[in-house]
Amino acid sequence: MNLDRMRRDVEDPRIVGWGRMPQRAERSEADTIERVSLRGTWQFAWSPTLRAGPWGEIEVPAVWELNGYGTPYYLAFRYPPAIGGNGRLDRHDRPTGIYRRRLDIPEQWAGRRITLRFESVKSAFHLLLDGELIGYSEGSMTGATFDLSGRVTTGSEITVVVHRYSTGTYLEDQDMWFLSGITRDVWLEAEPAHGPWDIAVTTDFDHVEERGSLRVDVDAHVQVHLGDDLIAEGAGSLWAVDLRVRPWSAETPMLYDLRVTTGAGDGATDRRHLRVGFRRVEIVGEQLRVNGRPIVLHGVNRHDFHPERIWDVPADVREHDIALMKAANVNALRLSHYPNPDQVYRLADEHGLYVMDEAEVESHGVRRRGIPGDDPAWQPSVLARVEAMVRRSRNHPSVIMWSLGNEAGDGEAFRAARRAVLALDDSRPVHYEGDTTLTTSDVYSLMYPTPQLERRIGEHRDVRINLIQRLFNRLAGDDKPFPAARYTGRPVIACEYAHAMENSFGNAADHVENFHRYPNWAGGFVWDWVDQTIAVPGKDDLVRQAYGGAFGETPTDRWFCANGIVAADRTPHPAYDELAKVYQHVVITRTADGVRLTNRHSFDDLTGRALCWRLERDGVTVASGRVGDIVTAPGGSREVRLPIMPIAGPGLWALMVEVGDTAWEQFELARIPAIGFSEWAAVDTHDGAITSLRFGGVEFLSSPLRLNLWRAATDNDRGLTNFAPVLTPFTGVSAWRRANRRTRPYRSDRGRTRWRVRGADIRLAVEATDRGVRVEMWATAGRHELVRAGLTGTLDSRLDHVEWIGRGRGENYRDRCSGSPLGRWSRTVEQFPHAYAHPQENGNRTGLERLTLTGGGLTLTVRRIAGDPFEASVRPYTQEQLAAAAYADELPTTGPATVSLDVAHRGVGGDKPGDLRLQPAGRLTRGRTWHTAWLIEGMTK
Ligand code: GAL
Ligand code: MG
Repeated sequence: MNLDRMRRDVEDPRIVGWGRMPQRAERSEADTIERVSLRGTWQFAWSPTLRAGPWGEIEVPAVWELNGYGTPYYLAFRYPPAIGGNGRLDRHDRPTGIYRRRLDIPEQWAGRRITLRFESVKSAFHLLLDGELIGYSEGSMTGATFDLSGRVTTGSEITVVVHRYSTGTYLEDQDMWFLSGITRDVWLEAEPAHGPWDIAVTTDFDHVEERGSLRVDVDAHVQVHLGDDLIAEGAGSLWAVDLRVRPWSAETPMLYDLRVTTGAGDGATDRRHLRVGFRRVEIVGEQLRVNGRPIVLHGVNRHDFHPERIWDVPADVREHDIALMKAANVNALRLSHYPNPDQVYRLADEHGLYVMDEAEVESHGVRRRGIPGDDPAWQPSVLARVEAMVRRSRNHPSVIMWSLGNEAGDGEAFRAARRAVLALDDSRPVHYEGDTTLTTSDVYSLMYPTPQLERRIGEHRDVRINLIQRLFNRLAGDDKPFPAARYTGRPVIACEYAHAMENSFGNAADHVENFHRYPNWAGGFVWDWVDQTIAVPGKDDLVRQAYGGAFGETPTDRWFCANGIVAADRTPHPAYDELAKVYQHVVITRTADGVRLTNRHSFDDLTGRALCWRLERDGVTVASGRVGDIVTAPGGSREVRLPIMPIAGPGLWALMVEVGDTAWEQFELARIPAIGFSEWAAVDTHDGAITSLRFGGVEFLSSPLRLNLWRAATDNDRGLTNFAPVLTPFTGVSAWRRANRRTRPYRSDRGRTRWRVRGADIRLAVEATDRGVRVEMWATAGRHELVRAGLTGTLDSRLDHVEWIGRGRGENYRDRCSGSPLGRWSRTVEQFPHAYAHPQENGNRTGLERLTLTGGGLTLTVRRIAGDPFEASVRPYTQEQLAAAAYADELPTTGPATVSLDVAHRGVGGDKPGDLRLQPAGRLTRGRTWHTAWLIEGMTK
């Protein structure tokens, strides 16, 4: 093996590949091709340096680091230790894996074009055929194709030398695991020798004339059929215009069969099948338009990731992702931060998602050192990556925007990249968030705007950055000032917003409101779809969702890889319900005699949909009705009259209105407290704690109910300490925890207790009555905003089932509850909490009227009889256990119920990554008082 040559390829940023074919659109199974997958066991030799290790075996695809070869690193914006900040690789830390296998070439392949395709190899590789070095490739997620025609026969041996690190790694600093190897499928493909290498199809739709057109660019003589009609014939650029077709959009994903045939008659016909869609994407003034109508992106960012197979995501998992997205009213997908396998684009074409394709260019950790910047040495790599993206996916109608990369700074590289994109395809706008002058990006794109900033931009005011943002920019941030004059006249999008890291995703509704309120806002993409945690064995046969550090490695950015709306195994997190709600395309508001529907679709006028309403009392329907015809023009609104709702008697009264399957709104009408039954009640208190709670002589507590002013910190509560754990004692939650532990009541007398804690004034009154135990609590926030105010304690272990009247079914907080309707819900104690990969506060329910625990013949009901609706959580472990656990599988799944009852509990935030910057709806601010009176009723049979 030519080691010097290999070393040079890997170390010289200007060498990005040789011997490989230009990228092209993936061929489909219906084409005249045959494909043989090379998945399976290969011979393998690994060494921590560029040298051959002992031979063994490995599966293809698989990542080395989870199979015993080398260390996984999860880093959010830094590089692994081998990658120096100066663009130079460490010569001694150069893990190399050599793969070898023999090929079986079917006899009938003789004379055909035979290609070898690697879908993804991290980070770079050399290819040898029968011992001869024939190619090199960087750009791992985009893949590489080699033409082996005429040089390969049965028995030929291929050797793939994979380099964990290369100069390509500098442009692959996305916030994800650094893992390596042949990480996705490898296949051989045979096709007619004289067919064109690639064909490019560009479509258009004229919404005024309602006609489609199409251009096929091909370097061979071809016939083009749309369905059964021959629409063009010839070579070069072939046009077919005036086609009577229906347009493609995310709302109407209309696809047509296109067949392109070469060399008819000579037996070597090459046939390609494409599913094409006709649509026009354009920027008109400040709007992003599809087929003439403004669109608002209800987007999510998605990493193509699986907890066991890493980047070799099973086909059914990708399908499931897309189905879950569509069910949550998502209409747009950003392929953060690299092109995906073809299946993802096909699914988006078919099911209707606007795709922002993104080149694998991210140099987060060195972008301020001019990589790639204006340095000509790094430009070829950027161009190769960007061009590869366009060539691979330009035939997909779902792709509506090309993104030049993510967090890679600004500079000449991107101006050149823009030109390269437009030379290949000028039918879609270009996106680049790093563009500070709006010379490369057609849209003004930003990350993590607050609702306030969105409004500022909607009103065309200057965007400034403050001192704190400047400080963050020195670390990992990249907030940019933008004078209004610079962005006026362009659409604005948030390529990332509403950070869903574990217990987060507050305020999502505010953002979406702004996207629809201001004409220049074209929406955004939530960060992000799926947790990037790795499934490893945990405690008691449980699966552990491992985050950074789980393999004993340093450095690491720990749980920052878990930002998903769904967990890595695709279990929806509570944020999923919120996403579905804030993204629904019909908004329903209350009017004096009914409701108003506002149709946020761009094309769908609600034909075929009906409105159903239900009057609910404690979650039970007491009256209902249906309104059939609700046709509403896209972008328009209409009123629908509803009958008068008769409210009589105690209960939580609410009106639920549903439009079609995916849009709903609920209106709270009244909360009229009731009183139930209780056996003889007795209560003891000591220093403000309820030490005994007896009904019919039976003790219901297994530990006292005590004042609770803290919570197990969420990732957002941790703020900067997510990255600097030594600072943890200085966070607000830690301060409340210490204060809570130390505080003694300054007055406590016959069940009446008063505390002064960190400026807050808390009062509690407890007394046994002949209807149960009456507990009343007041909390007034002082100079430090409250985290929460309530009581927590552990109940008799027989109480293992929970029923509640309030918001459900899943976890909700005051700033993340619009997707959680009021109703009557139930769960076991074990199912009540929500397991985040990194344990933290979870499982809260808001808007409560009643919480009932049952089991073993016992019933305990906590009922609001006056004051504010309360909040509660029930978990089979204590708050101390929760705060101490590092992984979800360490927490008990069974055990006596620990109950928290709160008069108020603050929100979770989520506007900024790992930063609890609560909006007013989530805050428990100075001077405000919360008050609830509960009646606790107990039964023993
Ligand atoms: C953005 C970045 C994402 C991710 C996110 C934080 O800056 O583009 O890849 O790191 O922040 O979770
Ligand atoms: Mg980054």
